[in-house]
Amino acid sequence: MKRVLTFGTFDLFHYGHLRILERASKLGEELIVGVSSDELNFSKKSRYPLYTEEERMHIVSSLGFVNGVFLEESLELKRDYLIEHNASILLMGHDWEGRFDEFKDICEVIYLPRTPSVSTTELIERIKVEF
Ligand code: CTP
Repeated sequence: MKRVLTFGTFDLFHYGHLRILERASKLGEELIVGVSSDELNFSKKSRYPLYTEEERMHIVSSLGFVNGVFLEESLELKRDYLIEHNASILLMGHDWEGRFDEFKDICEVIYLPRTPSVSTTELIERIKVEF
């Protein structure tokens, strides 16, 4: 049984998020998603997501092809999360190409192309400018 693990913020859930999770789910029998915590996002981007971690986890877990979610509290814990969840595959968007190859000793590491022309940051900018 292949279990796929992936990570992300999934703020202002959009089509690019849906597509990567859908494609990730087809790589194995189970898809588990680490949703990054509000504090982790604040430490990376100096702003909190618009949706809280509870809301983001609730949205992602309600997708039919997602089998489980957990809170990703630290970037340093990737290896622990992979082991804890018994992952066969680590799936990341290709914006991270090569950055997680260090985990190839414990699972397969796959990078998938992002969906063009959509991101949470771009949506926020467009809404600010256009409305
Ligand atoms: N993703 C994707 N296609 C997009 C946007 C995101 O495949 N157009 C993927 C990312 O590669 C990642 C996952 O969705 O694997 C979660 O990405 P996240 O960083 O939460 O979303 P972004 O829209 O990229 O957010 P931001 O603009 O804040 O960086």
